[in-house]
Amino acid sequence: MNYELILEKLRPAQEEIGAVRETTEKVICFINETCRDEGIDAKAYIVGSVAKKTWLSGKSDIDIFITFPYEEEMDYLKEKGLYLAYKANNHFKGTASEHYASHPYLTCDIDGLEIDIVPCYDLSGGKPIKSAVDRTILHTNYIKANLKKEQEDEVLLLKKFMDAVGTYGSEFKTGGFAGYLCELLILKYLTFEETLRAAQNWKFHTMIDLEGFGTAKDKIFKEDPLVFIDPTDKNRNVGAALRIEKFVDFIVASRNFLDILDDNDLNEEEKEAKLIEFFKPLHKGHLDKSNDEIAKDILESFKDRETQTLVIKFPIPEMSADALHPQLLKTIKSICEKIEIEEFSVFKYAYWTDEEKYVIFTIELNVFKQGKYYIHKGPKVWPKKACDNFKEKWQDALYPLDEFMVLTRERQFKTAEDFIRGLLDENIHIIKVGKSIKDALCNDYILLEIDEFLNDLDNQFDYGISKKTGEELAYDYLDSLDDFLNPGQYIKR
Ligand code: UTP
Ligand code: MN
Repeated sequence: MNYELILEKLRPAQEEIGAVRETTEKVICFINETCRDEGIDAKAYIVGSVAKKTWLSGKSDIDIFITFPYEEEMDYLKEKGLYLAYKANNHFKGTASEHYASHPYLTCDIDGLEIDIVPCYDLSGGKPIKSAVDRTILHTNYIKANLKKEQEDEVLLLKKFMDAVGTYGSEFKTGGFAGYLCELLILKYLTFEETLRAAQNWKFHTMIDLEGFGTAKDKIFKEDPLVFIDPTDKNRNVGAALRIEKFVDFIVASRNFLDILDDNDLNEEEKEAKLIEFFKPLHKGHLDKSNDEIAKDILESFKDRETQTLVIKFPIPEMSADALHPQLLKTIKSICEKIEIEEFSVFKYAYWTDEEKYVIFTIELNVFKQGKYYIHKGPKVWPKKACDNFKEKWQDALYPLDEFMVLTRERQFKTAEDFIRGLLDENIHIIKVGKSIKDALCNDYILLEIDEFLNDLDNQFDYGISKKTGEELAYDYLDSLDDFLNPGQYIKR
């Protein structure tokens, strides 16, 4: 397969390279001059995919790291790091927002380019890391030293493929492959195609150890689907953030791609036309429809499933996105477990969030309404003492069923909707709920059936805190429902 046509679109053009270089240099110069003028012992470097020449055209986030002496206090690094970042942002008339990794950093928009400015420690001389982001400089140096010129293209192909099939990005929201992991995979397997050929046979707990440290079998990595030992740190798995769903998605996407590549019934032209689609975003049918039209289609699909789908919406308190996602996952899982215990049946559930203002739990039920009565089970018939105790409480209502003493009781909640209301209003303590979101979930939720919710979609979202409008947020949620209804759509073409 000749990838040249695809690569032409992935490689940044000279113009883009020039613009990125110019902005990067002036920001780094400004920070370093400020340090010199103000006697701050720190130095700015370009790291990440711009430094490694592995950024996808139009997708450069410029990663600038400011290193501080190893002995410096963490508080000093935090304070001076943000100070320098804000000063640079203001000097170049950017817009900035604070984010949080292991400590705060700044994301700036300068000249229309996204720049992360992150303080970290200088590890030169092989010192152990002090903060999680300290490794980044080592990563950048390792890739620059080991990735051959012709392999840069292979990284671009792999990153773009990953992106299009929905497995790229190590932030919690995606739980996929980090850029650095893509680069390491190319170092291991040499080309994009060979990476896919290897991936199609990966097993759970695949181990790769480029530098031969011998640590991949360590107990701490036991639960990780992919263990790729960091060549710059033998005790770190670069795939630590990769979730099993995305690992599996990538394996199956690789097989789907190779099935076409190896299909002898297709001529070269047909093959290329099909394979090129794996490097483009999935073309969803609803792309040129209005929100109202999309909502109508989605409701029709839900209706056809003959299920009931409930929507729980609540606001997000002040917290970081990284902390939010695990709490949402834990909470919706726990709610669904309780629903199942009540003998309703959950077919599928998912959460959506804009990470700033809104959370929506979507819960689809196969069994959502039940009869008036249920069987309440007591002790086995054989131990008389236990049966006497049970009888004291329930008197004449008891009767034996199989080997048990039971009674027929009226249900407190006859619908899943009532049950969830009861749970959120009075029984929140029986579910595992993320502690930061608990108050908002109990006190500020709305619970609706999906058709009520979608028919009132225009009123569900105000403006998001960042640039997104209510209409864009509504689209985002609808798009997530499309994914809900069409599992696995990203990994094939
Ligand atoms: P980025 O997420 O910006 O990655 O993190 P990248 O390599 O620059 O790739 P793209 O093109 O922007 O998507 C910057 C650096 O932070 C470290 C890596 O060293 C990466 O190069 N990092 C980031 C990790 O080690 N692990 C992560 O999960 C994320
Ligand atoms: Mn980057």
